Amino acid sequence: MTSRQPTMSADEWDELNFPRPEVQGFDEVVERAISRRGFLGGTLAFGSGAAVMGTAFLNGGSAMAQSSSRFAFEQISARTDSTVHVPNGYSWDVLVRWGDPLFSDAPEFDPATGIPTEGSDRVFGENTDGMELFSFKGHQLLAVNSEYTNNDTNLAHTEDGLPTSAEDVLRLQNFQGVSVMEVTEDADGWKVVIDSPYNRRIHHNTPMSLDGPAAGHDLLKTAADPSGTQSLGTFNNCGAGRTPWGTYLTCEENFNGYFGATGDMPTDEKISAGYDRYGINETGFDYNYHQFDPRFDVSTNPNEPHRAGYIVEIDPTQPDAVPVKRTALGRFKHENAATALAPDGRVVAYMGDDERGEFMYKWLSRDVYVPGGDTSTLLSEGQLFVAKFNEDMTGEWVALTPDATGMDAAEIAIFTRTAASAVGATTMDRPEWVAVNPTAVEAYCCLTNNSRRGATNDDGSVRSNAGGDEMTVNAPNPRKTNDYGQIVRWRPHGDNHAANTFDWDLYVMAGNPDVHTEGAYAGTANINAGNLFNSPDGMQIDSTGLIWIQTDGDDSNEGDFAGMGNNQMLAGDPVTGEIRRFLTGPNGSEVTGLTWSADKRTMFVGIQHPGGSFPDGEGSLPRSSIVVVKRDDDALVG
Ligand code: FEO
Ligand code: CA
Ligand code: CA
Repeated sequence: MTSRQPTMSADEWDELNFPRPEVQGFDEVVERAISRRGFLGGTLAFGSGAAVMGTAFLNGGSAMAQSSSRFAFEQISARTDSTVHVPNGYSWDVLVRWGDPLFSDAPEFDPATGIPTEGSDRVFGENTDGMELFSFKGHQLLAVNSEYTNNDTNLAHTEDGLPTSAEDVLRLQNFQGVSVMEVTEDADGWKVVIDSPYNRRIHHNTPMSLDGPAAGHDLLKTAADPSGTQSLGTFNNCGAGRTPWGTYLTCEENFNGYFGATGDMPTDEKISAGYDRYGINETGFDYNYHQFDPRFDVSTNPNEPHRAGYIVEIDPTQPDAVPVKRTALGRFKHENAATALAPDGRVVAYMGDDERGEFMYKWLSRDVYVPGGDTSTLLSEGQLFVAKFNEDMTGEWVALTPDATGMDAAEIAIFTRTAASAVGATTMDRPEWVAVNPTAVEAYCCLTNNSRRGATNDDGSVRSNAGGDEMTVNAPNPRKTNDYGQIVRWRPHGDNHAANTFDWDLYVMAGNPDVHTEGAYAGTANINAGNLFNSPDGMQIDSTGLIWIQTDGDDSNEGDFAGMGNNQMLAGDPVTGEIRRFLTGPNGSEVTGLTWSADKRTMFVGIQHPGGSFPDGEGSLPRSSIVVVKRDDDALVG
């Protein structure tokens, strides 16, 4: 396996190690699973009363009839350039870039070398990702994830971007985690309030507490923390979420990449099995932390990785509050967390585990949320479930209990993937962001792609996830070698997010009807030459119910991806299925992270790992940035 070069995003590394098969096998598409009636039945052309959609659901069958649109903008074209584009009548500007100061004592960003180690915890972190805005006593507080580092840009003094000292490692550790910052708008536009008392950097060494069933378990104890309840740092903070009580949820995704071994790997059977399932190995992603910071050396600290991979709750209004790792919500490669309230006030959180063939989860609290009441148990006491999708377009949430899994509560929390495999959860095409529609009792998950879906090993067996669960083509993941991705939607029975059963459909299957004139790779009928995209990833649903879809895919604009251009953000109508392209990112970037100002007149959009010299122009290192998007008439944008 190739080490992750420091210039790569996690997805690029993944693609290098697990390239698409040269023969795509497009003639082996299984259509039965998508040939069903979906919730978009009203606008898709197929016979009334038909039990199945047949191929009319696919692009080759019929065009989607659109009589009216609720979008307030005209779709923009795909782009392959080095800047951001938004529709006519909208404007964008940069709010904050990697390395911009949160405090007046921060070092100044050098266009050639970036930020030195001294003061690297006083600036906005790198590779912006999930974010949420909180309105508190007249202050607008933006909490933002910094997922990973581009070492060739921020360790420009090293030959290959590999850290060569503890100082290098500390710099990388400081650039990641979470930034909390106050933002404000005046006549000159939006800006960060430097030195606001709310500004805060949470990074790889920030003290955290561990809570829930795994807290205090032997597998979480280390020499530095024999209690197993106090850890340092939050890692690979990908997507995000917010609770009804106004706290921020940051989600630890590819945490495995930070660990390595200078000596022997642990031999304990349970620990080794966990390492295999979560991808912890000798080299990690070449952060080289383990060479200079013994905490990350699993040959001497085998339990340290068990203290990462969780949902972490942060109170953005309390800069001194210790973040809490909520182990009850499971340990996996958490993408994001989308919360909802059941009619009785219990708290639901939907979550995806972003790896090929991993699963989708739901948390249900034991206690109810009461505004102003005690919220301390709501992410600690309750039940974790995993999704099972049936071919008949129903599904169920299977409780991960000791009885069902043969594991105790702490082990379910630590080795959640193993527990989910034990109950036969449905393998998914890399669950990225989940979003809950505030205007209907339904939720959505981006299944970004899975080049190994339905593929076979040399011996003819079907490829499996790291737990041995075969990734055969299944109903919600109906395409072999799925390069384009899809969005699954579910509606809980009884209009109750606490229900254990649901109906589901595919809101969209991305595809390319220009390249594949018929069949499943053309995509669903709501894909057309004007809105081509691949690899849906980030997702938020605004207060009006529009679905905002962000992509992290192949931006080659060639072959199967011709006409798709750079990564982008689109808006989807949940009722008609219509999808329009709203924003295009600069070359090389991923568009990820979206939230709104308190008055809903500004969108904050994340531009991660841009190429070239975005946004500063020639001669500058590229800088991940949050951009603000407004309507020129200052009307609502969400
Ligand atoms: Fe960090 Fe799965 O994206
Ligand atoms: Ca993502
Ligand atoms: Ca992705």
